[in-house]
Amino acid sequence: MSITKAEIEKILGQVIHPEFKKSLIELGLIKDIEIIPGAVKITVLVASKACTVKDKIAKLITDSIKKSYEDIDVKIDFALMTSAERAKLFGKEPSEMEGIKKVKHIIAVASGKGGVGKTTVSVNLAISMSKMGLKVGILDADMHGPDIPIMLGIKERPVGSEGWLLPVEKYGIKVMSTGMLAGEGVPIVWRGPMVNKAIKEFLGHVKWGELDCLVVDLPPGTGDAAITLVKSIPLEGAVIVTTPQKVAMSDVRRSIGLFISENIPILGIIENMSYLKIKDGDEEKIMHIFGKGAGEKMAKAFKVDLLGQIPLDPSVGEGGDEGKPVSLNEELEVAKIFMEISKKIYEKLEKGNLCQTMKKNIKTKD
Ligand SMILES: Nc1ncnc2c1ncn2[C@@H]1O[C@H](COP(=O)(O)OP(=O)(O)O)[C@@H](O)[C@H]1O
Ligand SMILES: [Mg+2]
Repeated sequence: MSITKAEIEKILGQVIHPEFKKSLIELGLIKDIEIIPGAVKITVLVASKACTVKDKIAKLITDSIKKSYEDIDVKIDFALMTSAERAKLFGKEPSEMEGIKKVKHIIAVASGKGGVGKTTVSVNLAISMSKMGLKVGILDADMHGPDIPIMLGIKERPVGSEGWLLPVEKYGIKVMSTGMLAGEGVPIVWRGPMVNKAIKEFLGHVKWGELDCLVVDLPPGTGDAAITLVKSIPLEGAVIVTTPQKVAMSDVRRSIGLFISENIPILGIIENMSYLKIKDGDEEKIMHIFGKGAGEKMAKAFKVDLLGQIPLDPSVGEGGDEGKPVSLNEELEVAKIFMEISKKIYEKLEKGNLCQTMKKNIKTKD
């Protein structure tokens, strides 16, 4: 007598997810069950291709089935959740996530404090990814300092269509920002519930369409606005931007702490304004204006990757001011650095090297 789908479902209803502590069925993680003669093939959804629990889940399933059906061959496949499924799993209301249904990866660019180059990094990563041939979007979620439109030179306002808000396209990237809604120089006073409402609009009612990656420029720090956003956006991972000063260590620690408390993997740290290259006759000198080695130290202390070091370079600042990010010019050295970092990030997202940063890492002393 061969096994039935219902019997498999019953067994999977008893298999408890090692992280979420509920059964795989209850969590809605079983995408497909296929009965093949002598075997069963089960497709399990995973939030990110996080490396640790996958093997555990496979073993738990196989062991449970083998307990009752010793001779059956158990094949397990893993499929990456859509952003909407991820939202549902983490309690982020799926109905309000309609607009991001076809977005493959959503990542945050965060920093412990303002002025470190978070927005600069967001736009340049987005442009490099787009140059990699990916479909990219940017959500400017820094509501108190929505600088994305300025750095991309966007003057247009988004238009509505049948209940949807259409992102503005620039350099092949889809962009949405509160800055575009209010108009340049018009201050908006955002209060807690308004942030919540706005972000639901941005995720649910903006027609992002099919995207490989949506880059979210978060507000700096770990205040209410940042917390609300991290809790309500189904993020797959976070990039932390810092400058090389020793004092930035505690900012970075707090920032990483915010993500791991929400179970969001850290993709790595980017050290911005890392060094300055100056010409001294024929010689090129490297000056570490803000100190040296802090990024490496942080990465080591928090057991995360140092994704790259971006020099202090006038062309980066000018590019931002003029609305023409430096990464548009692929020949430039800084553009090459941004490209390398983008490739690393996207590879992590695709290949699933998203090991969860462990809570214990954050307790490491400076
Ligand atoms: N690597 C860099 N070299 C030169 N100027 C930079 C660099 N990174 C950022 N800037 C400039 O520093 C300022 C702050 O950067 P920004 O991206 O707005 O920071 P944040 O979003 O963290 O507040 C901007 O004027 C920007 O053009
Ligand atoms: Mg900014």
